Amino acid sequence: MEDMIRIAVDGPSGAGKSTIAKAVAQRLGIDYIDTGAMYRAIGYKMLKKGINVDDLEGIQRLLDTTEIDFSKGDIILDGQVINDLIRTPEISKQASSCSAVGIVREKLVDLQQKMGGAKSVVMDGRDIGTVVFPDAEYKFFITASPEERAKRRYNELIEKGQKVNYDQVLADITDRDHNDSTREITPLRKAEDAIEVDTTNMTIEEVIEYICKEMK
Ligand code: DC
Repeated sequence: MEDMIRIAVDGPSGAGKSTIAKAVAQRLGIDYIDTGAMYRAIGYKMLKKGINVDDLEGIQRLLDTTEIDFSKGDIILDGQVINDLIRTPEISKQASSCSAVGIVREKLVDLQQKMGGAKSVVMDGRDIGTVVFPDAEYKFFITASPEERAKRRYNELIEKGQKVNYDQVLADITDRDHNDSTREITPLRKAEDAIEVDTTNMTIEEVIEYICKEMK
């Protein structure tokens, strides 16, 4: 049997982690798991059901009756493909709030460990190298300046046909950085043994090349 490898790709919002992680997974022919999409899925369902982040009983009931899966690049929540439904500024905020709730993190970390427990994966998120797979074979921490990340997110949203304003996108990124790095439970931080890649002045292709070279 071939050795399993787990590649952890962490970093702040909008640094290009998912594009990079997806491309690296494709090159290596292994699965890609977008853990941010899992927090988005829970945030989306909470919003739909009208469950507040303070309502721990309601959240627990929701978690007990929720199924999240990935199939052929789609994220599936309770049997429904929700790819586009979770990529809105409203769900970004909701995902950031619900990711600070301990029972949400417990459930998703457990699920992520099961997903990456039996096969090689590239997993991107905030706590993959620190909590989900502290013994991952490779760990990368992808960063870029807030302005550059806002520019990339803005272009992505415009391409999808959404009406957005650059200053608002930058304000949302700064807010989420603050929430994600100051929350009490597993705030965003670089694993000590992760390789940091500042992508502010790099193209996505250059980052992918760099990461693949580091792994050789
Ligand atoms: O990567 P993203 O923007 O899709 O993530 C959505 C939110 O989920 C973000 O605010 C941080 C949170 N998140 C997290 O706390 N831990 C992860 N492993 C992935 C995402």
